[in-house]
Amino acid sequence: MTMRETEWRRKAKDVGQEHLFAFWDELTLDQRDMLLAQLASIDLESVPTLVEKYVRNKPDFSPGGASIEPVNDYPNDHTNPRRAWDRAHYHALGEEMLRRGEVAAFTVAGGQGTRLGYDGPKGCYPGSAVRGRPLFECLSRWLVGAEKRYGHAVPWYIMTSPLNDEATRAFFGEHKNFGLDAANISFFQQGVVPSFDAASGRILLSDRHVIATNPDGHGGSLKALHASGALADMRGRGVRHISYFQIDNPLARAVDPVFLGLHAHAPDSSAQMSSKMVAKTEPGEKVGVFAKVGGTVGVIEYSDLPGELASRRRADGSLVFNAGNVAIHALGVEFVEGLSRAGAGLPYHRAEKKVPHIDLETGRRVEPSAANGIKLETFVFDAISMCDASLVYETDRVDEFAPIKNASGSDSPESSAMLQTERAARWLEAVGVRVPRKADGSPDCVLEIDPARAMRAEDLRSGPLPMAIEQGARVVID
Ligand code: UTP
Repeated sequence: MTMRETEWRRKAKDVGQEHLFAFWDELTLDQRDMLLAQLASIDLESVPTLVEKYVRNKPDFSPGGASIEPVNDYPNDHTNPRRAWDRAHYHALGEEMLRRGEVAAFTVAGGQGTRLGYDGPKGCYPGSAVRGRPLFECLSRWLVGAEKRYGHAVPWYIMTSPLNDEATRAFFGEHKNFGLDAANISFFQQGVVPSFDAASGRILLSDRHVIATNPDGHGGSLKALHASGALADMRGRGVRHISYFQIDNPLARAVDPVFLGLHAHAPDSSAQMSSKMVAKTEPGEKVGVFAKVGGTVGVIEYSDLPGELASRRRADGSLVFNAGNVAIHALGVEFVEGLSRAGAGLPYHRAEKKVPHIDLETGRRVEPSAANGIKLETFVFDAISMCDASLVYETDRVDEFAPIKNASGSDSPESSAMLQTERAARWLEAVGVRVPRKADGSPDCVLEIDPARAMRAEDLRSGPLPMAIEQGARVVID
């Protein structure tokens, strides 16, 4: 036995995971090295706590006895008497931040995209309504537009996972970084956590020499921003705020001056972490909601919001707890640095999943037909309750939320294309272009607006436009 082997066997035994060496004698030297290297990359000391807290028990994220109140968001309609505010002022402040180069764009793209079932990183999926531009390209066009408009490049940080990092980088290479300067694009990988056997609390092996792991959730982005050196890089560039969005929403404004202005300058913002919301459509909609829990703003998952509160309505009929989370945030660089300094880890959430693995008795691969494993993930929105104060800004659903999560049905490529078209139709109509609509009011055409041409409806006025769109036409405005 080598010293290295003895040491790692002891460490694994100390945390109740000695079975990871079950096939040691059958492994090649290279495979042994790989197993030891993987053990070194995992925080083994935390394993007993993880098993106790999340595998043997189910932590309760429900608000319990704490008071639950709605958040005082900034309404999308800035003239809303509930809270009127000066949109133009914050727009100007946000534009100034972009001119000064104080903003970075940050996309979390480390997910496995299992529901979509696409073979490759989700960002490579053809997501735009007419041209089928890859999701990465859809988002890149905002950055091209912002650089042109504000005279300053917006550096783009992209978080991948060990499972899709190589393919993501290669895709950018093949597409010549979608016209962006390579010096302004950084990729870094998120961490992984071991996957556990639900019954025994043992870490599963995905091969005789490979520990089964999964990416540590979008919450892992906060740790990875620090560990990868991305925060330091941002500091070096004079970046003070991060515009955070997911890869699966082609309508997300990668940089939104109004939101950034509010986040950094509104009197009730701590400029630590702010969020966009859309109004929930019905009480049962499966989306987390922003609420004040025990006086602190946070997100309550849909399954944890008591039914009575979910369906409570205001006098005007709108839902009291309607602040749906669309996973678009702004984060202060200083705030993320502070979390890392304080070692403030986000809590894990457990998911029961089918995890293929090697049977320790027979050495054969098992493809489970029912959930057998526990995967642990952290969620970025859990950082909101760590802020001194956290601002929520309402945006219009059609304007900004067309996620691609599932292969069909809701939140699918098809529903996303319809929403993209609806937004484009509204923008075109706002500047006087006639758009054909069906009897049910939906556009009778397919439309795509290039964000590099227009970041909002008004921008369309500055270039050529058709008078009208033909029925059934597929039109790109760029
Ligand atoms: P989802 O929660 O929709 O997960 O991620 P997913 O992995 O993309 O899809 P499913 O659940 O397997 O079908 C929301 C966003 O967070 C990112 C995803 O890439 C997506 O942009 N994410 C998720 C990460 O970056 N890392 C993770 O570990 C999980």
